[in-house]
This record gives sequence, structure tokens and C-alpha cells, in this order.
Amino acid sequence: MSDSKKINIRQATLNDANTILKEERAIAEIPGYFCSSPSELSLDSIINAISVLKDKSGVFLVAECNEVLVGHAFLEIPHVKSLQHVAELNMAVHLGWQNQGIGTMLLHRIIDWAQESKFIRKIQLNVRATNLPAISLYKKMGFEEEGRLKNRVRVNDSYVDDIIMGLSLVA
Ligand SMILES: CC(C)(COP(=O)(O)OP(=O)(O)OC[C@H]1O[C@@H](n2cnc3c(N)ncnc32)[C@H](O)[C@@H]1OP(=O)(O)O)[C@@H](O)C(=O)NCCC(=O)NCCS
Repeated sequence: MSDSKKINIRQATLNDANTILKEERAIAEIPGYFCSSPSELSLDSIINAISVLKDKSGVFLVAECNEVLVGHAFLEIPHVKSLQHVAELNMAVHLGWQNQGIGTMLLHRIIDWAQESKFIRKIQLNVRATNLPAISLYKKMGFEEEGRLKNRVRVNDSYVDDIIMGLSLVA
């Protein structure tokens, strides 16, 4: 990526919420990436996630290029104590910015944050079996397939498996 396209990764703020919603809705228009349809994504849930995902509750990062938001990723930590060593990952690189290494950069930062937290031992996610770029990225970063929920997600008129992937962090 050229210097004019330098990517900055930072903690999300509430000012980012509207753009994140717009970009998530644009991706959700394309079947097979998210489970939610565009109308099922809400500003409230993004505002809530940005507000809550701090310190021991998780992290919400955005990637920007020349002050334009080009991607985001967040880790959620469950409320239940016995599950708090496993953080749940969600991420998206915005349309027009994919396949340029931004997802790799965001995921490196997410993994570093989890590693530094000391209490997260594992990152887990769900990905549709048809989402080859995402699966390729996760495998490159060390995630392994841990399970497969058959026909879990309806995409248009067919049903697609959901793959559970996990990355164990070294102590
Ligand atoms: C999945 C996603 C986050 C990846 O981000 P990205 O910035 O495009 O990822 P990168 O460019 O860092 O890496 C993508 C990798 O997938 C590979 N790839 C791209 N298309 C591919 C395909 N059709 N089949 C296999 N691998 C593919 C690329 O070659 C690259 O691997 P490399 O670095 O070894 O060359 C992004 O595509 C995205 O947001 N998609 C829509 C939303 C989504 O699917 N979110 C994840 C839900 S689980």
C-alpha cells in the first residue's frame, strides 16, 4: 500500500457510529457475509458496542485512511465469568477497500490487544462457509476450524454452513 494510503488504526469513538452503520448496511446488502439484513442493523447497537467495549469488556477498533473509515473490528467478552477467557470477534473492511491488507492489519491489532489483556485465552468467531476471503484471512492468522453448524444461515434460497473458528493465545 502506498504512503498516500497509510492506514491508521485507533479506538472507535461515538462519532464513528453513523459511518460504521452505513458501511455495515452496504456490506449486508450482499448476501453471504453477515447474518443480519441491512434493516436489522441498528445505530443503537453500534453506539452501545462502542460505549461498552473498553478495558475488560472488549475493544472496538477502526481503520482509517486519510480520515476516511475503511474498516472496523471488535472483540466482545461475555458477561458470564466462566466464558470470559473467550472473546468473540466481528470485523469488516468497507466496500472498495477489501483485499488490500487492511483486514490483516486490523486482525493483528485485535490479536495484540487480546494477548496484552492477559485474561483472554482464545478468540472465536463464526464465518459462513462460502466466505472464502474471510476464511483465508483467519487461517493465515492462525485460526483453526473448530466446528461446523450445518445449514445454519439462509442465503437467498439456499442454506449455508456456519464455521466456528478459534485462535488459542499463548500464555
Ligand atoms: C473478510 C474481510 C474482513 C477481509 O479483509 P481484507 O482487508 O479484504 O483482507 P486482506 O486483504 O488483509 O486479506 C484477505 C486475504 O484473502 C485472500 N482472498 C481474497 N479473496 C479470496 C478468495 N476468493 N478465496 C481465497 N482467498 C481469498 C487474499 O488473497 C488475502 O490473503 P493474502 O494476504 O494471503 O494474500 C473483508 O473481505 C470483509 O470485510 N468482507 C465482508 C464482511 C465480512 O465478511 N466480514 C467477516 C465476517 S466473518
